Amino acid sequence: MLPYDVVIFDLDGTLTDSQLGIYRCTEYALNKLGLPVPGQETLRRFMGPPLAESFMRYCGMTEAQASYATDLYRERYIPIGWKENNVFPLIRPLLAALKSQGAYLAVATGKPQHTSIDILRYFGLLPYLDAVAGPTDQELHADKGALIRRVLPEGTRQAVMVGDTAGDIKGAQDCGIDSVAALYGYGENSEVLAAHPTHAVEDTQALCSLLCPDMPPVKGCFITLEGVDGCGKSTQAAALYDRLTQFGYSVRRTREPGGCPIAEDIRKIVLAKEDGGMCPETEALLFAAARAQHLKDVILPAVRSGQIVLCDRFVDSSLVYQGMARGLDDQWVKEINRAAYREGAPDATLYLRMNHADAMKRRLAASDPDRIEQAGDSFHARTEAAYEQLLLENPGRFLPVNAAQPPQQVTEEAFTLLFARLIERGVL
Ligand code: TYD
Repeated sequence: MLPYDVVIFDLDGTLTDSQLGIYRCTEYALNKLGLPVPGQETLRRFMGPPLAESFMRYCGMTEAQASYATDLYRERYIPIGWKENNVFPLIRPLLAALKSQGAYLAVATGKPQHTSIDILRYFGLLPYLDAVAGPTDQELHADKGALIRRVLPEGTRQAVMVGDTAGDIKGAQDCGIDSVAALYGYGENSEVLAAHPTHAVEDTQALCSLLCPDMPPVKGCFITLEGVDGCGKSTQAAALYDRLTQFGYSVRRTREPGGCPIAEDIRKIVLAKEDGGMCPETEALLFAAARAQHLKDVILPAVRSGQIVLCDRFVDSSLVYQGMARGLDDQWVKEINRAAYREGAPDATLYLRMNHADAMKRRLAASDPDRIEQAGDSFHARTEAAYEQLLLENPGRFLPVNAAQPPQQVTEEAFTLLFARLIERGVL
């Protein structure tokens, strides 16, 4: 049973942390005007009230100057700034759990309605909401109580408003509904508490316990990145880590060979340049040994605790490099990597697909090659062919992405595929 079957949320400081975009766009406008940028404490006060008002109050502008500064702010906010936002942790699984238990969910925000809808859509939160209200293009500002009334359904259901400012709490009181003060947001806690909210929560974990006492535990997931040497995995792993974190996920980034102290020691041996005499069997056993430790120490505990593990290379690399490219028997390679095929199998594998010769040119331009990267063109041609074969054999798990595109486009394509897969698997 839910304590409230109508839940209305504020957006900034409650569902999302929009601080970064707001700071950067304010800085951009002030830089263009040749004015000094105030310190963090003052910038923090820009969160919430209408922008022009803040430019006048904190930067000593006239009304006309503040209106021009607002136009400059928008010059950056419209193409970039609105995406520089982070969904607070646990918000997506909370909305999903409330929705699946029959709650009516809405947003009432002081941010313009169309921008709010764009943000909620971009971060994949819109599907959980029944209504969104914010000031329309004709309104400069709208009273919080009036906004709440726009989304409040008819009838006698138990309703609550969740927000981080005193305005949210007063708005709820105007409408005769309960309120939750989100103390993790931007509002001054003393001011929010002085407005007498029905409840107050310190973090989103406490919000979940209050609104959805039997919320299911957050699901973890194991994602690997694969591709030939030089395909850009490390760049993409970093970009995907950032994007997943922005979307509210708790992410653990790791790599193979390595990822934990024992496996990092093995990495030094297996990739050492001078070790030219290492036989393929030793190489395969060392990769498998490092993997067994990594799986036990890092990957499995993180997935079980509800994190997304993003791992740069995994067992497919052994099948490709030691199996198909070095010519070892793949059944034996699978056998020595048994744990990786049982409890440690990846949920999805982003395959950064690229021609091996172009990828190697890119790799050599970046830094000195390691022992395996020095193996020669025909070896790398075999790794490319081997990945193509794995793609055919694992159509459900492999998510191929064209890695020859500019890096930002690769990230866009990879993230779109990955996010769809996470949602499909109930990883929220
Ligand atoms: P690394 O410097 O991590 O390269 P990359 O950024 O291309 O992943 O080196 C890893 C090298 O080890 C790479 O050439 C692939 C190889 N490798 C194997 O041969 N077998 C394996 O099981 C793994 C994990 C990596």
